[in-house]
Amino acid sequence: MVLDLVHYVINNHPDIHVTVLDKLTYAGNRENFAGLPEDRFELVVGDIADAELVNKLFSKTDAVVHYAAESHNDNRLKNPYPFLHANILGTYALIEACCKYDVRYHHVSTDEVYGNLSLREDLPGKGEGIGEKFAVEIPYNPSSLYSSTKAGSGFRSTCKSVSAFF
Ligand SMILES: NC(=O)c1ccc[n+]([C@@H]2O[C@H](COP(=O)([O-])OP(=O)(O)OC[C@H]3O[C@@H](n4cnc5c(N)ncnc54)[C@H](O)[C@@H]3O)[C@@H](O)[C@H]2O)c1
Repeated sequence: MVLDLVHYVINNHPDIHVTVLDKLTYAGNRENFAGLPEDRFELVVGDIADAELVNKLFSKTDAVVHYAAESHNDNRLKNPYPFLHANILGTYALIEACCKYDVRYHHVSTDEVYGNLSLREDLPGKGEGIGEKFAVEIPYNPSSLYSSTKAGSGFRSTCKSVSAFF
């Protein structure tokens, strides 16, 4: 997913340098970033929860788009901790650093924070009727460890509320 953004920015905004911070877990792959121009792109292998590293990077950054996540919900059965580490502690470190260095922050959330909808064919409007789609004003109703931690990280991800929320 993040690759689409990286390619879009590299191809359409020649004045922007892109840095990707990725721990390269089982879900990451260094090869995905092969072929990108070395003078405009850097892959930093590291953890978004590493506040020292994040602060170092963000002190020379204008904007951040937060894609990194532990997202494969079935993995909670083996070890739930990475969900808390990446989605809660990692996001916290990013937002803290953004506040510190006045960096613009974009949070990538998921529709799963809103919970579940009935199947479209079961709904009177086949999913297109009033109240049959998720909307931003609908309260969060996450139903998995992945969606709960994404909801926790996404709920009011702003400098003003970060200390109150976490
Ligand atoms: N894939 C979808 O259908 C979908 C839908 C809605 C929202 N999203 C959101 O989009 C984002 C990307 O989704 P995806 O499907 O590419 O996820 P993914 O699990 O396939 O990839 C996650 C990436 O984050 C990295 N990562 C994990 N923990 C890290 C950490 N602690 N520090 C640094 N990097 C770490 C991994 O190495 C990997 O490259 C996520 O925030 C996800 O919640 C995805």
